[in-house]
Amino acid sequence: MAGLEEVLAEELEQIGAKNIEKQVRAVIFDGDKAMMYRANYHLRTSISVLKPIYEFIANNEDELYKHVGKVNWSKYMTVDETLAISAATSGEIFTHSKYISQKVKDAIVDQFRRRQDKRPDVNTLSPDLKINIHIHNNKCSLLLDSSGDPLFKRGYRIKATKAPVNEVLAAGMIKLSGWNMDCDFYDPMCGSGTLLIEAALMAYGIAPGTYRKKFGFESWNDFDADLFEEITEETYGNTEFAHNIYGSDLSPLAVKIAEENIGQAFLRKKISVTPANFFDIQPKGKGGFMVTNPPYGERLQPDDLKMFYQKIGDKLKIDFTGFTSWIIGSNAEVMKFIGLKPERKIKLYNGSLECTFRKFSVYEGSKRNGEEPNDENL
Ligand SMILES: C[S@@+](CC[C@H](N)C(=O)[O-])C[C@H]1O[C@@H](n2cnc3c(N)ncnc32)[C@H](O)[C@@H]1O
Repeated sequence: MAGLEEVLAEELEQIGAKNIEKQVRAVIFDGDKAMMYRANYHLRTSISVLKPIYEFIANNEDELYKHVGKVNWSKYMTVDETLAISAATSGEIFTHSKYISQKVKDAIVDQFRRRQDKRPDVNTLSPDLKINIHIHNNKCSLLLDSSGDPLFKRGYRIKATKAPVNEVLAAGMIKLSGWNMDCDFYDPMCGSGTLLIEAALMAYGIAPGTYRKKFGFESWNDFDADLFEEITEETYGNTEFAHNIYGSDLSPLAVKIAEENIGQAFLRKKISVTPANFFDIQPKGKGGFMVTNPPYGERLQPDDLKMFYQKIGDKLKIDFTGFTSWIIGSNAEVMKFIGLKPERKIKLYNGSLECTFRKFSVYEGSKRNGEEPNDENL
């Protein structure tokens, strides 16, 4: 995911992956089957784990079709299983990803038809095998998606309020914030509770894969259930936590939804949520990390967005001295109304929405200041 490459590379290092290399919106690494299971089950900031199976050069559609047909597809699926193809292309030669998926699908089903007089069906919703083709100019790679459904579908979020952040972005924001789990974590506009739940998973060493019903690799014919079982018993990072994780939201309905999701994740004893207006509350302790995702204005409309952000800044200055506060938002103009100089700005995407994630630290005696910082991170 754009902006999370660094934290994902750190996570890969922690689980023991080798030859880690950051790319744009991806991190590549070497590992065996156990590492593939581990990456799916334990990584918090990865959307999917792809296994490359064949790289080739194709200068036109016929060459593409021939190369895809060279792979022995019976090694990966049976004719009675279903498949889905996803294509990503850049460069001048292949320009239509839909057309490429079609060609790849034709090459695969034609191989089955030739050999067995029968063809596998396509199922875009829940295929047994998800195949990716990545093309840059004439360089093509075929990869199997070992995750199946994207990894942000953790499985604990049974309900969502409007405009939630996805679970992978939430985990990435917490990692980028630098929260070391040595102080309280607070989200005062917690919506469905995603940031709180991801913070608790990290703080107590609970793997993000714990709640998933299924990973793509479980349908593969080389699936090793015993090996996977062993991987699910591993733990990485923090396991003990002696501080508070708490949230609040103006909307009682949002609080109810957050509570349901927290319950679904078996974290009721580890997270507290209350209905409260941010502008009226007092933080629990004298310091900690505050990470939040206020209404952007695109999808939620407070009456006066500028005034709203101004009030956030005033609140931080009055009641959040000693806190490290991080706020994500897509509207740079209104975020300026916070009126505090951000210490850092990081570009992130919430879905297709370009956002900045800004860090504010308020010390005793901080002055109101509308200046923007150097945009080193943008
Ligand atoms: C973009 S949503 C947060 C989504 C959340 N991060 C999630 O993943 O579900 C913004 C939330 O801010 C809440 N909100 C708006 N004004 C507020 C206020 N003054 N005090 C507390 N919460 C507020 C809304 O009720 C909404 O749930």
